[in-house]
Amino acid sequence: MKGTIYLDHAATTQIAPEVLEAMQPFLFGKYGNASTLYDLGKFSRAAVEKARKQVAEVIGASPEEIYFTSGGSEADNWAIKATAHMWRRRGNHIITSKIEHHAVLNSCKSLEEEGFAVTYLNVDEEGKIRPEELERAIRPTTILISIMYANNEIGTIEPMEAIAEIAKKHHILLHTDAVQAYGQIPISVKELPIDMLSTSGHKLYGPKGIGCLYIRKQIPLKSFIDGGGQEMGKRAGTENVPGIVGFGKAAELAAYEMPYRMAREQQLRDKMIQTVLREIPYTRLNGSREERLPNNANFCFQFIEGGTLLQLLDMKGICASAASACSSGQSSVSHVLKAIDVPKEMEHGSLRFSLGKSTTPEEIAYTIECLKDSVRKLREKNPEYQEYLSSLC
Ligand SMILES: Cc1ncc(COP(=O)(O)O)c(C=O)c1O
Repeated sequence: MKGTIYLDHAATTQIAPEVLEAMQPFLFGKYGNASTLYDLGKFSRAAVEKARKQVAEVIGASPEEIYFTSGGSEADNWAIKATAHMWRRRGNHIITSKIEHHAVLNSCKSLEEEGFAVTYLNVDEEGKIRPEELERAIRPTTILISIMYANNEIGTIEPMEAIAEIAKKHHILLHTDAVQAYGQIPISVKELPIDMLSTSGHKLYGPKGIGCLYIRKQIPLKSFIDGGGQEMGKRAGTENVPGIVGFGKAAELAAYEMPYRMAREQQLRDKMIQTVLREIPYTRLNGSREERLPNNANFCFQFIEGGTLLQLLDMKGICASAASACSSGQSSVSHVLKAIDVPKEMEHGSLRFSLGKSTTPEEIAYTIECLKDSVRKLREKNPEYQEYLSSLC
């Protein structure tokens, strides 16, 4: 097959043509600083406010509850660290999970160094939080619960309704990292009492380096970056107008296309999962079968090193992602796979395929054929596999 087959949309996406078109005037020509008072600046301000509305609408928020950031990492850091510092007098305990993105995990680690106590909840074998375990972990000093909406590696969607109910019942602030879920699946902050929610533009065909933190109106979260009075005094720094406009357009498109895209990607994903599990022996699916992002398929192949398989696929023009990184001869297993108890003999052979709106059935069929061929070749060369086969005779 000619060209690149891009199956790594969870890592990033190419900006949509409509997004590029919306951004272009603000990159050249309409370059005014959105905080200035002449027409050029007012034009930028109007575009920023339109984008705020577009981004808010996806989750049923009010525009005044959207604060633009440089992306998901900044939004996570802000929500967690600012909450901890502001509510410190009430308590010093935070609850999160073992499968969070490092933007959340490392924010919590840095708070531990300051004396905060953090509980890292276990998840079940599908990667789901057990609500009863969350409730048991709550202490009189708990000030924040931060649980991701959907996992970036294995695609599992967390039971957010139950989590939000528990947080509300105990009057504890709830933050969710929705970087992988925003614009991909329906989310409503009107229906769920989520207090803070992080997003990122480059996961939904928007530009890189832009995202937002949704902060519920009543939450008086302090600024994380000190400086000027931009973003209603909560996030200093000259607005990234082209980025914000692009994010707004991408959000609008995502909401409009969501039902069609979800159905289409889910169908291709399920075809891929069924075929891979049926036709490649000693393979498992990681994550939940049902509560799963529509575009995520994550497998473990026994007797395979994920990084090597990735390279073989790359030679055939296929871009995917290996959850286990191998550097300087030392192979490390992803914290997510560890948390879901992937069997030892499989943990190094993981691969994530994340589909997108341009993915075709032909690309999936070709990828499966390449996968079958590459796995077979790698296993043939693996003495452990040969030994295993002889033990069966
Ligand atoms: C779940 C999750 N949270 C946070 C981030 C960080 O987002 P950004 O790249 O916009 O900083 C990512 C990016 O991969 C992610 O998948």
